[in-house]
Amino acid sequence: MTPLLIANWKMQLSVGDSLERLRQLRVRLDDFRDDLHVAVCPSFPALPVAADILSDSSIRLGAQDAFWTDRGPFTGQVSPADLRAIGVHYVLLGHSERRQLGETDDMIGRKMVAAVGHGMMPVLCVGETAAERSDGRHELVVRRQLTAALRSMPPAVRGRRLSIAYEPVWAIGSGEPARPEQALEMKAVIDQTVVDLYSAVTAAESFRVLYGGSVTADNICDYVRPTGFSGALAGTASLEVDSFVTMIEAVNQCFRRPT
Ligand code: PGA
Repeated sequence: MTPLLIANWKMQLSVGDSLERLRQLRVRLDDFRDDLHVAVCPSFPALPVAADILSDSSIRLGAQDAFWTDRGPFTGQVSPADLRAIGVHYVLLGHSERRQLGETDDMIGRKMVAAVGHGMMPVLCVGETAAERSDGRHELVVRRQLTAALRSMPPAVRGRRLSIAYEPVWAIGSGEPARPEQALEMKAVIDQTVVDLYSAVTAAESFRVLYGGSVTADNICDYVRPTGFSGALAGTASLEVDSFVTMIEAVNQCFRRPT
């Protein structure tokens, strides 16, 4: 499966800085072959102009969230129909920074259905906190998050390509990524949960599992490789154009290196 590298810019950059970085990225990745999917998720206010900057480029646009219904009295929410109309391709759902603010498994499940219904590709973020890991509940928590979000998907949309990002909460923004063997253990839990929920064939054909949490150009190939994760979700290291491009080049290399 083609690897996928997603930049999550959170609320870290102004609109002006986001657009400037996208213009530079577009130039830097102009002759990049399409054997790696690259996506950037800027903040909502940057999306319409970002879509213009990236039009006809190989860089895809992602949003950091999307609501579960198109229209209605929902102050402050963002309609998935509008995101799709702008040209958004990927939608991050269930990021731990949103779960910490009160987003529940049920809300995430409803958003998944809406995003897929609009032809966008959800990137479902799952992962345990440090306390859950030290209590030995990490596998249980991730299985619960996955089952809750995926069981609401109607059969007709189950075969669509989805990504699941394993992002241990303690590794996000901490500079301390999960050890590769810890991450791979959790990837096995995710793979098995998806097989239990769907079938081995659907799991293999329709799901990408990404790693996220203090990914850098130096460590990305510990996770993203043919026998490991099929992509990564990067925050801090994606904020500067140089380091994001270096990460993209690293993935391109390590995906080709026999393991
Ligand atoms: P980080 O963020 O790379 O800064 O750890 C990752 C994320 O939150 O998706």
